[in-house]
Amino acid sequence: MTDLFAFDDGTCQQLAEAHGTPCFAYSGTVAEAQFTALRAALPSRVRLAYAVKANPHPALLARFASLGASFDCASIGELGRVEALRLPPGRTFFAGPGKREEELRKALAMGVRVQAEGFEDLARIDALVDRETAVNLRVHPAFDIDEGNRIIGGSGPSAFGVDEEEVPALLMRATALRHVRIRGLHVFAASNQRDASKLLAIHGAVLDLAKRLHQQHGLAFEQIDLGGGLGIPYASGQAPLDVGALGQGLSSLLAAHPWFTGELILEPGRFLAGPTGVYLARVVRLKASRGTRFAILEGGINHLIRPLLTGEPFPVKAVGRGEGALPTTLAGPLCTSLDRLGEVLLPELAAGDLLAFGSTGAYGLNEGMTHFLSHPVPPEIWVGDPLS
Ligand SMILES: Cc1ncc(COP(=O)(O)O)c(C=O)c1O
Repeated sequence: MTDLFAFDDGTCQQLAEAHGTPCFAYSGTVAEAQFTALRAALPSRVRLAYAVKANPHPALLARFASLGASFDCASIGELGRVEALRLPPGRTFFAGPGKREEELRKALAMGVRVQAEGFEDLARIDALVDRETAVNLRVHPAFDIDEGNRIIGGSGPSAFGVDEEEVPALLMRATALRHVRIRGLHVFAASNQRDASKLLAIHGAVLDLAKRLHQQHGLAFEQIDLGGGLGIPYASGQAPLDVGALGQGLSSLLAAHPWFTGELILEPGRFLAGPTGVYLARVVRLKASRGTRFAILEGGINHLIRPLLTGEPFPVKAVGRGEGALPTTLAGPLCTSLDRLGEVLLPELAAGDLLAFGSTGAYGLNEGMTHFLSHPVPPEIWVGDPLS
C-alpha cells in the first residue's frame, strides 16, 4: 500500500510504447488495495464514500463501487457518472457551496443525500420536494488543524458550510420549513493529513460539536460526515497514514459518544485514488540556462497543476535510468514560466527519456488546465489487473 509508483519501470516502458506519451495510467490492483486496507481498518459503523472529484475515471468508480463504496459528488457531472453505476439508493451524497437548481433537482431525483451548505440550500430543497426529506448540514467549524497546503482554508472566512456560530439562528429559521429535516452533520476541515492523531483530533471536535447541537437543539443525527483529507506520501521517507490507528481512534470516539447511534462517514478522495496513478511524459529537450538544468517535457501544468498550487512536486523517476542526483528543473511545453512541475533530483537525461510521476491518480489530469494551449488531452489507461 502507498508505494509512490503504481507501476515498475518495465510496466511504465510497456505502457508508454503501447499508448504513446504523455499519458496517465491507473492501477486497479492498487485501487483495490487502498480501499480494502482502509475498509478493514475502520469500524463497521464508518461508511466510506469516495470523493469523485479526486478522479472520476469510470473504471475507478466501478472498481470502488464493486468493493461497496458510497460516493461523494459535487457537481451534476459527477452525479451523472455515479448514476451510471446504478447503485442502490443511499450510497450517494451531494456537496458543494454553489449548487445550481438543476443540480439540486438531479440529486433529489436520484434520491441522493444532500449536504446543505446554508439556509438557502435548505429552503430551495424544501421548495422542490413534496415529502419529508432528510439532509445533512455542512458546518464550517471554529476549529482547524495546521493545514500546510491550504486546500480547505482553515477556520477563517469560508465559502463552505454555515459558520458554527450561525447554526442556532439557522435552526430557528429551519423550523418554518415544511419537508426538510436536518438528520446529519457534515464537517470537513483537513487536507492531505498523514498524521492519524491530527485527523482524530478534528474528528473528536466534530463529535463534540454534534453532541452540543444534539443536546441544545434536539437534533437527531443519523449521520456524521467527517469529510476527506486522509493523506498520502508524495516523497520517499514520508510515513503513510496509519489506517489502523485511525480505525482504532474512530472506535474509541464512537464508544465515547453513546448518545450517537448513527453512522460516521469518511469521504476520502486522495487516499483512495492518488496511489493508483502514474503520469508518463518524455523529455523533449534539455537546456542549461544560467546555471540551471532544465528538462522540458511533453506535458506540464496542462496535465498536472498540483505542484504549482501547493509548491510540492509529485514524486518522479527517470524510467530505466536508475538513481541520480542532478538538480533538475522540470518545465512543461506551455508558453508561461508558471509551467513547472518541480525542482527535483534526477540522473543524467537525454531527449526522449521517459519520466514517470507517481501518486498522480488524484487531482491529476482532472485538475489540470487541459484547454490551455490546445495540446491534445492525454489518454487515461485503466490497467485493471497486473500486466503479464
Ligand atoms: C466535500 C468534500 N469531500 C471530500 C473531499 C476529498 O478530500 P480528499 O481528497 O482530501 O480526501 C473533498 C475535497 O475537496 C471535498 O470537498
